Amino acid sequence: MRIIESARNTKMLCGFVREGGDMILGFDKIKVPQATNQALADMKGKMGATSVVYAPGTQYQRILLAGLGPDMEEDTIRFVAGRIAQKAVELGVKEFSIVSPDEASPSRIVEGVSMSLYKFDRFKSKKKDDDGTLPECTIVAAGKAAARAAKTAGIVSDGVEFTRNVANMPPNECTPAVLAGLAKKIARKNKMKCTIVTKAELKRRGFGGITAVGQGSSNSPRLIIMEYNGGAEGDSPTVLVGKAVTFDTGGISIKPSEKMDEMKFDKCGGCTVLGILKAASEMKLGVNLVGIVPAVENMPGGDSYRPGDIIKMYSKKTAEIMNTDAEGRLILADALSYGEKRYHPRAIIDFATLTGACIVALGNNVAGMVSNNRGEVARIMDASKRTTEQVWELPLNQDYMDMIKSDVADMKNIGIGRAAGTITAAAFLRNAIDKTPWVHIDIAGVAWTQAGTKEKPYNPKGATGFGVRLIMDYLQNL
Ligand code: BES
Ligand code: MN
Ligand code: ZN
Repeated sequence: MRIIESARNTKMLCGFVREGGDMILGFDKIKVPQATNQALADMKGKMGATSVVYAPGTQYQRILLAGLGPDMEEDTIRFVAGRIAQKAVELGVKEFSIVSPDEASPSRIVEGVSMSLYKFDRFKSKKKDDDGTLPECTIVAAGKAAARAAKTAGIVSDGVEFTRNVANMPPNECTPAVLAGLAKKIARKNKMKCTIVTKAELKRRGFGGITAVGQGSSNSPRLIIMEYNGGAEGDSPTVLVGKAVTFDTGGISIKPSEKMDEMKFDKCGGCTVLGILKAASEMKLGVNLVGIVPAVENMPGGDSYRPGDIIKMYSKKTAEIMNTDAEGRLILADALSYGEKRYHPRAIIDFATLTGACIVALGNNVAGMVSNNRGEVARIMDASKRTTEQVWELPLNQDYMDMIKSDVADMKNIGIGRAAGTITAAAFLRNAIDKTPWVHIDIAGVAWTQAGTKEKPYNPKGATGFGVRLIMDYLQNL
C-alpha cells in the first residue's frame, strides 16, 4: 500500500472522526465542501459508522467520513480502516485514499484495509461483469517513519494473506505433499533452506507419532522443515512448530458428520508457521528462525492406527492410543522433540487447532496458551496486546501431567473424560520436550470464523491467519 505525503486527486478521500468530534482527523490542510460539516454532524462519529459526501467540482469525487467511537483502543483504527475498505468495494470505487490521523496509524490502516479486502474465491467461476480486481488504497501520511511502518505492515499482511490462502484450500487440493510443495516454493523464492522428510525416512528416523497418524491415508505424511537465518551465526534460533492435519476425520474414532468439512482447517497451525517464515524472510528480520510443520491426513481405513495401539514417539517415550481423533498432539510431539534436539532453540512456540475443549473454555475470540516459561508468556502477552490477537494462559502442573498416565505405556493420548481437555493435550506435548522454553498456542477457536466469532471487517469468512501478526510482533520485539 503506497504512502503519499499530501492528499491529491482521488475517487474517494477518507478520514476518521471521533465520536462527537467536529473535525476530520488530519484534514487541517485539506479543503472540503461545505456539505461535509452537515454530514459530520449527522453521523456523530459513532464507531464503524460511515457517511459519504459527494464533492463534485473539487479534486475529490467523494469524501468518506468514518466514525471511531468514543475511545480509541488498540484495534479501533484497524477495524474502522477495514470498514472504509468494505465501503469502497460496496461503492465500486477503483481507488481511494485514507488520511492517517497520527503517526501510529499507518501500519494499522495497512493491516485493516488489506485484511478486509481479502476474499477466497479462486474456486468460483468468473462472472462476466466482474473482473475480480480489488480497489487500490493509498495512505496520506508524512515522514519516513510512516513509509517504513507501512512497508513492514504490508509484508505482515501479505503473510496473513498467504496463510489464509493455504488454510482455505479444500482438503482434496491440499494434501501433505501439496503443502510441502508450497513450502518449497516460498523457500526458494525467499532463499530459505527447506527440507521435506517423506514417509519411509520418517519411519526410519523414528517419527512414530507422525507415521502412525499418517498411515491410514493414501496421501502419505510429510515433515516440512524451513530455516531462515537473518540473525548472527551461532545465535540459537526460535523454533516455530505448526500442526498441519490437512483433513481430520478423527480416524477410526471417527467424528460425527456435522461440521466435519471444517476439519480442512485442521492445518491452520502449519499454515501460520509458513506465513510467518515468509514474512520474516521478506522483511529480512535479524533473527534465526526454524519452521517445523508435520503434515498428515487423519483417515479411517484398513491401514489406520487404532485405539489400543502403543506407539514409540520420536522422544523414545511410548504412547498408548486411546482415541485416534487426538492425533494433533502425536504429530506435534514428534516435531517438538525433533526441534529441541536438532536446533537447541532459545524458545519453541507451537500453533495448533488442537482441542474442541479450547472453544468451550475460551470461545472463538481468544486462543489458549500453555507454557513452561514465565518470560516467554510475558513476551507473547505483550505482543497480544499490541496486535489484539488475543491469547489467555491456562495452567499446567503435575496434577494435569498425571491425568495422561497410562497403565501400559509411558503416557496415553487423552486425559480423563472431558476434564481440562486443552491442558491434558498440552501435557502430552510437555512430555516431548526437556528444558527448552516452550509456548503452546491452541488456535482451535480462532483459526477460522465460527459461530461465536466476533464480526470484524478484517476477519472475512474462512481462515483468519491468526498468529502471523502476533508472532511477527513478538519477533520484532525480541
Ligand atoms: N482438530 C481437532 C480439534 C478441533 C475440533 C478443533 C473442533 C477445532 C474444532 C482435534 O484433532 C480433535 O479431534 N481433538 C479431540 C480430542 C479428544 C478426542 C480428546 C476433541 O477436541 O474432541
Ligand atoms: Mn482430531
Ligand atoms: Zn485434529
